[in-house]
Amino acid sequence: MEQYVIKGGNPLVGEVEIGGAKNAALAILAASIMADETVTIDNLPDVRDINVLLEAIKGIGAIVDRLDAHTVKINGSTISGMSVDYEYIKKIRASYYLLGALLGKYKRAEVALPGGCDIGSRPIDLHLKGFRALGATVDIQHGLIAAQAEHLKGTHIYLDKVSVGATINIMMAAAMAEGKTIIENAAKEPHVVDVANFLNSMGAGIRGAGTDVIRIVGVEKLHKTEYSIIPDQIEAGTFMFAAAATRGDVTVKNVIPKHLEATTAKLLEVGCEVEEFDDAVRVVCAKRMHHTQVTTLPYPGFPTDMQPQMAVILGIAEGTSTVTESIFENRFKYVDELTRMGANIKVESNIAIITGVEGYTGARVSAPDLRAGAALVIAGLAAEGITIVDDIYYVERGYEHFEEKLASLGAQIEKVSSEKEIQKFTLKVS
Ligand code: UD1
Repeated sequence: MEQYVIKGGNPLVGEVEIGGAKNAALAILAASIMADETVTIDNLPDVRDINVLLEAIKGIGAIVDRLDAHTVKINGSTISGMSVDYEYIKKIRASYYLLGALLGKYKRAEVALPGGCDIGSRPIDLHLKGFRALGATVDIQHGLIAAQAEHLKGTHIYLDKVSVGATINIMMAAAMAEGKTIIENAAKEPHVVDVANFLNSMGAGIRGAGTDVIRIVGVEKLHKTEYSIIPDQIEAGTFMFAAAATRGDVTVKNVIPKHLEATTAKLLEVGCEVEEFDDAVRVVCAKRMHHTQVTTLPYPGFPTDMQPQMAVILGIAEGTSTVTESIFENRFKYVDELTRMGANIKVESNIAIITGVEGYTGARVSAPDLRAGAALVIAGLAAEGITIVDDIYYVERGYEHFEEKLASLGAQIEKVSSEKEIQKFTLKVS
């Protein structure tokens, strides 16, 4: 088991390059198997979830040619199986995108029920409702979701709840259905738009992605394309908050500042300076931050995937703040860990009431999930003394070379795998 060991207290200073968006990439990789020709995808993040999905795509018979860490060629014409039931794919939430992709293309799919981060109950009823509305029969048996249809027929689908996954999955299946599909109350996240742009670059007829009504005219075939994935807004936001927490000065490069508006707005509210460039943002935070209120909401609201990082910076801001989680029901599991570092946080239902303390003190903590793990690393960077973050497996699902990027900004952080290495690090930095 590996850990991050961190000696906190250094302001982060410098420039950091952001990779491709994990959540866009997962859907785009799944969608790539819908073409019979070779699709080239660039700006892929080299993180665990992506590598697991690529293995699964290879496992059903597609040709997967990894040109380098960030570029892959996929040809789905050789797919021989419609059943995706690997022990490891259950661990990634986005395995469900293979359902929409296979159902759209082959009108048949069997995929293991997804897992992912344990941040509350994560139903997929809306995905299945969409597939059924398109004419598929869907059964859940022995841990597998089986969907099939003679023909998929375009239809009108209203999503009761705004769901990124359901919007993308239905969009993929509808891209190869007969006739026109309308998805109402669709998610508007940048990665929904990216997946639509990718499908359109293969010849799909999708309009309106990025608004709450998406119109899709089904096509019979999708063709080859070359596509570059958008930058990861959550990775970018995480570095922006790490800069703030350490009172640093960091320029976060290769981003789309528009996608970071909610994050930027909160940093301005707490008293940091944020300068926007065409494809970069600079965060400078010289003084102690102030308290504020934040509620997670679907895009363009404040992202739930930035909620733990936000709580970490409010934990050392002056005054009392509140963080309301409106998307997932169990996303405060990191609070106990942060309390061990000196935070003063009380959780009541879906609201965390945070009384800012002067600073954190280093402690041994465990990452409860991907984003909370990153948030604990930020706390460690801001803390006095040594912090050890266990279970960094979660963090590596979504952050590429996290410790190297932080170290390049002046952080004292190393990835270690034994108590001996922890001691060595401690001796080195003390
Ligand atoms: C995606 C992201 C995740 C992010 C989340 C919200 C991926 C792989 N994951 O997750 O990082 O935190 O969007 O931005 O892209 N819901 C239902 N029924 C459904 C589907 C969802 O009730 O069929 C509910 C969920 O329980 C949740 C809300 O809708 O309360 C939003 O979930 P959704 O947007 O679907 O999240 P994911 O796509 O799973």
